Amino acid sequence: MKYTCYGHSCFAVEIRGKKILFDPFISYNELAKKVDVNAITADYIFVSHGHEDHVADLVELAKRTNATVVSNFEIVTWAGKQGIQNLHPMNTGGKWKFDFGTVKCVTAQHSSSLPDGTYGGNPMGFVFVTDEGNFYYSGDTALTYDMELVPSVATLDFAVLPIGDNFTMGVEDAIAAAEFIECEKIIGVHYDTFGYIKIDSQDALEQFSDAGLELVLPEIGSTIEV
Ligand code: NI
Ligand code: MN
Repeated sequence: MKYTCYGHSCFAVEIRGKKILFDPFISYNELAKKVDVNAITADYIFVSHGHEDHVADLVELAKRTNATVVSNFEIVTWAGKQGIQNLHPMNTGGKWKFDFGTVKCVTAQHSSSLPDGTYGGNPMGFVFVTDEGNFYYSGDTALTYDMELVPSVATLDFAVLPIGDNFTMGVEDAIAAAEFIECEKIIGVHYDTFGYIKIDSQDALEQFSDAGLELVLPEIGSTIEV
């Protein structure tokens, strides 16, 4: 599976020829200046929660690409009011069979207001189960025992977890999460973008390695095979 890093918690995967984008926050990210947001294509855009650093480019991207926006009921309702046409509301605990595979929405321990103050429902993570591999994107979250349920949904090939601390899990809790979800390959997100979440990447890589895990920190704008 191809994984493209767009910085912060924004990334895309390609499954069965469909491009699936997550938490679009690009044009406002100082670290992602070299990414041309207008060149990004998407068939689906999954949104974990309503915070600005996950939806800032959502409306423009969804309108230009005609991608289907998938998120909780409240965020999808808000997206509809912004003029986005293709929408799929879900909520925690629910799963749906899409044309690229099945997605289950799982608990995230965080908050979820939208940039204009609208109530953004509950934050979510997503477990993708597909012919081309399985993965878990936790969204912004604390470490939670609910993660122990993920292995009953899927045997994961990789997981995308926040490691920046302050607003979400930091490195130590992400390592504990990797054990809960029984996954050895973790792609780190939600770090370095702002002052509060700047981390020592070398130290993070070493901590994961010492725990017998692989931490992958792709360069912004790069595409890797996962
Ligand atoms: Ni957040
Ligand atoms: Mn965030």
